[in-house]
Amino acid sequence: MSTNWWHDAVIYQVYLRSFADANGDGIGDLAGLTSRLDHLERLGVDAIWLNPCYVSPQRDHGYDIADYCAIDPSYGTAEDLKALVADAHSRGIRVLMDMVANHCSDQHQWFLDAIASAPGSAARDRFLFRDGRGVDGELPPNNWQSVFGGAAWTRVDDGQWYFHAFDASQPDFNWRNRDVVEYFDGVLRFWFDRGVDGFRIDVAHGLFKDSAMPDALGDGHNYAMWDQPEVHEIYRRWRAIGTEYEPQRYFVGEIWVPTIEAMAQYLLADELHQAFTFDLLVQPWEATRMAAAIDRALVQAERVGGPPAWTLSNHDVHRPATRFGQEQHLDAPLPTDMIAAARRRGDADLALGVRRAKAATMLQLALPGTVYLYQGEELGLPEVFDLPDEAREDPIWLRSNGEELGRDGCRVPLPWDAASPTFGFSPPSSTSAPWLPQPQWFADYAANTQDLSDDSTLAVFRRAIAGKRDTFSGPDIDWLASGHPSLLAFRRGSGICAVNFGDSPVDVPREWNADAVLGSEHIGDGSVIPANSAVWLTVVRDDARTTVGSDGTSPAGLTSTTTGIHGPTGPQSHMRSNDAPQFT
Ligand code: GLC
Ligand code: CA
Repeated sequence: MSTNWWHDAVIYQVYLRSFADANGDGIGDLAGLTSRLDHLERLGVDAIWLNPCYVSPQRDHGYDIADYCAIDPSYGTAEDLKALVADAHSRGIRVLMDMVANHCSDQHQWFLDAIASAPGSAARDRFLFRDGRGVDGELPPNNWQSVFGGAAWTRVDDGQWYFHAFDASQPDFNWRNRDVVEYFDGVLRFWFDRGVDGFRIDVAHGLFKDSAMPDALGDGHNYAMWDQPEVHEIYRRWRAIGTEYEPQRYFVGEIWVPTIEAMAQYLLADELHQAFTFDLLVQPWEATRMAAAIDRALVQAERVGGPPAWTLSNHDVHRPATRFGQEQHLDAPLPTDMIAAARRRGDADLALGVRRAKAATMLQLALPGTVYLYQGEELGLPEVFDLPDEAREDPIWLRSNGEELGRDGCRVPLPWDAASPTFGFSPPSSTSAPWLPQPQWFADYAANTQDLSDDSTLAVFRRAIAGKRDTFSGPDIDWLASGHPSLLAFRRGSGICAVNFGDSPVDVPREWNADAVLGSEHIGDGSVIPANSAVWLTVVRDDARTTVGSDGTSPAGLTSTTTGIHGPTGPQSHMRSNDAPQFT
């Protein structure tokens, strides 16, 4: 396995609108991000991924792009981006942007041209316009539903309909039209030429639809709407463009497909470097479920020869501190609705939730692969459930008439300074309120307070990111049996990661011959793993090396199985492909 920078990286997702506001208009911006790079450098991240910051009417906060080659004025200028990239690079931090190629904004010039042109015109062919059904074409061309709720079709004045997998303001491109293909080649080069190190690809499995657009059967996964074979040609093309650059540019896909086999197709050597491993994100706080998710991801990694991209959080789901503090649903989430399963209402015990979120973070940092963190995770920030209805802007909230809370609660502007107005998100002189109101209790999570404490969530994150590579190495893990059903433990290199999912402490097994080096909670003399916490240990005497014997038993008498990029062995690695996470 080659050692490319992303293989062991910690990548921090910046939801720019909510990160830091330099000019005081209540909206986060590039200059604000640049001014806070010290925080990210101290945290120890290797790269940042910026949510879309191109010109956009912001109906889906930047996932509706009107101009792919210009920065939205509310986020700054081309110069601001240049300054950000230069400053980040000078600190060894890479910069990834977000590529939204499935759809654009209804304000994109091409869509305005399409609307102004006749049915059947070349301008319309860049999108998915169809005649309707019914006597006068008054019914949508098929029964497909938008991911955000409601019909996936909207009718225009001359009677035709256009397809949108998401909001009506986000028309889907027709990727069988060569203009579209060539346009995106240019967009990639435009940003790569400006020093951008790679892209996260939005709904990467979405670009093509079955050209017959048949009615969907039932309300399950709509196979005709996603994951069509032609999409792979596009990623081969993009990978080739990325390798024209030195160093080669990186791609990570947001991909929801029903099987490991389907996912593997995107991760072949000439396509995307990685895809998010959402499997941990959708698991409840339960040892065997988490272990099975890890095994599945490592089987996948072995198949494609590259490590997983773990993540517990992003701008589309409720925050982990809240999710892990809620009642845990041990039944598997509905296959058609995995992400929605991570957006549940319900009371949360936040003290418990934060403990578990810290432990889960230490778990993913100990695994082979890349870790994607979402801004505010390092502060243990909870989901904001108490946003006033009128403040909510997410199209999911709007299109479901408030039935679904949507995603605003994980997008509230960050608290930097407990004592400042807007908690330091905007400059003190600012007269505009933050675009989403911050609750008073955000003060308790402010970065500057956490900075001063060795016990804060932020301090745990810093220590774990700093210690990750010293403690763990190599692409494989050996599961360690402990006799405790609530304990998940594995060895990787000379490090051991032990996570106690239970509500009472567990003794560190003596046979491990290992010293505790870091805990998500206080570890005292290191002899116990506190309830709902993670402990990292390093093996002192290597006679405990858990080489797997042919009977699955190690010399030290520990049962262990190896899973990893170099080959899964042993009973725990068995999986059925339909165990993989399914499409939202
Ligand atoms: C992806 C993004 C989400 C966005 C949607 C439409 O799922 O993560 O935020 O709303 O695509 O672009
Ligand atoms: Ca601003």
